[in-house]
Amino acid sequence: VSRARAAIAEHARLVDDFPAPGIAFKDLTPVLADPEGLSTIVTALTHGCSSIDLVAGIDARGFLLGGAVARELEVGVLAVRKGGKLPPPVLAVDYSLEYGQATLEIPANGLNLSGSRVLLVDDVLATGGTAVAAAELLHRAGAQVVGVAVIMELAGLGGRDTIARGLGPDVPVHAVASD
Ligand code: PRP
Repeated sequence: VSRARAAIAEHARLVDDFPAPGIAFKDLTPVLADPEGLSTIVTALTHGCSSIDLVAGIDARGFLLGGAVARELEVGVLAVRKGGKLPPPVLAVDYSLEYGQATLEIPANGLNLSGSRVLLVDDVLATGGTAVAAAELLHRAGAQVVGVAVIMELAGLGGRDTIARGLGPDVPVHAVASD
């Protein structure tokens, strides 16, 4: 985890006033483009994970991480998509984002997720709305989110509390770094 944090400190790019005035955006793109950055972050995201059946990566940057984390844990990966990308039938959940409204979807058919223990993976935890919506989708599909792993937690936005309320206080939330 300390090597992953060092890679974040070295490579993350700070962008002022994005995506809205007054917001300082930490772009993790260069961290993941760095070999040491990707490798140490993927390893750090698996920290403390056991008995996982499936990794779910959240649209869009969670996809990059989800596949790699799934390989590390030797399980499969599920892409939790933004609305309108998947063929019907889908399971869909609408949710509020820090900057608006969105929908997450997974296929309603073809996945046998009943009883699966799922690790949710994403790049950033902000308000927690995305993670709770993804967990709700997986719950509807018969699966259970048993952990949430992100690269960066924006600690002032209460995401951890929102996840504790939505998923229960016992679901571990692991952030490689906090801002
Ligand atoms: C960002 C980020 C997380 C989400 C976190 O994605 O990648 O998925 O916001 O926010 P929350 O904790 O407040 O819900 P975004 O929805 O901006 O989409 P993108 O990955 O497609 O850019």
